[in-house]
Amino acid sequence: MKIFASPFRRSALAVAGAILGALTLTATPLLAAGDTPAIPSQKWSFSGPFGLYDRGQLQRGYKVYKEVCAACHGLRLLHYRNLGESGGPEFNEAQVKTLAAEVEVQDGPNEDGDMFDRPGKPSDAFVSPFPNKEAARAANNGAYPPDLSLMAKARVGGPDYIYALMTGYKPEPDSMDMQEGMSYNEYFPGHQIAMAAPLSADSVEYTDGTPPTVDNYARDVSAFLMWAAEPKLEERHRLGFRFMIYLVILAGLLYMAKRRVWSRLKH
Ligand code: HEC
Repeated sequence: MKIFASPFRRSALAVAGAILGALTLTATPLLAAGDTPAIPSQKWSFSGPFGLYDRGQLQRGYKVYKEVCAACHGLRLLHYRNLGESGGPEFNEAQVKTLAAEVEVQDGPNEDGDMFDRPGKPSDAFVSPFPNKEAARAANNGAYPPDLSLMAKARVGGPDYIYALMTGYKPEPDSMDMQEGMSYNEYFPGHQIAMAAPLSADSVEYTDGTPPTVDNYARDVSAFLMWAAEPKLEERHRLGFRFMIYLVILAGLLYMAKRRVWSRLKH
């Protein structure tokens, strides 16, 4: 018995340590957030272990990104062809070509050594709105609009946070001294954000009958940015589902095997 006692105690200690560690890890962002309210969780088609993206929502989200956010934010990790790949917005081939051709891409040099602009191709990476960080800051009152490729994974709350941020603009409380050019946002740490409320109702045209409200724009663009940050989510969820079925079948087979083996023993 003594032989088992010490490794058991050690593993019990390790488990307790892991639980404590996990608790402190989850508690830190809450404490650091100070007086920022907790981010409400939203219902997403892709949440849960078997969730999948909603194609229509991703397509609308791309439209909102392109017509609003792309004026300031890049998505440098995406290529236009990704918009047609399975597990994403799944625009068809002709649509992807058209969407890519809507942007101007700098190419070159040509035979004279000059750079030139041409319409985009599906193989091009998303074009960033500013040539460098300095230009981006200069155009935004000194604040840098971050690249959004991984934003849905970079912030606590992910798509819930992006949705909360988009819908969290309010008139500032009287007690608050706002700096020049800043907007009050309930969910931004410190509440002063250099991005003015980007969404307003009816600013992006939806063609599938979805009401063109700020709420829907915010939801759709958050889902789109989630896909941008996690394009393989569906693949993972499908694999997880198949693995569950495999486990159920395996459990059934093992149970039958066990019954056979034990049936040979007399009670
Ligand atoms: C006119 C320029 C502009 C537009 C348009 C714009 N943004 Fe921003 N955005 C900014 C700037 C500037 C910042 C940096 C704000 C700061 O640090 O105070 C920012 C920051 C952000 C952040 C990061 C917030 C954080 O936690 O640090 C997110 C997310 C974001 N924007 C999403 C969007 C989305 C989604 C859209 C489109 C619906 C959009 N933005 C449109 C300028 C813009």
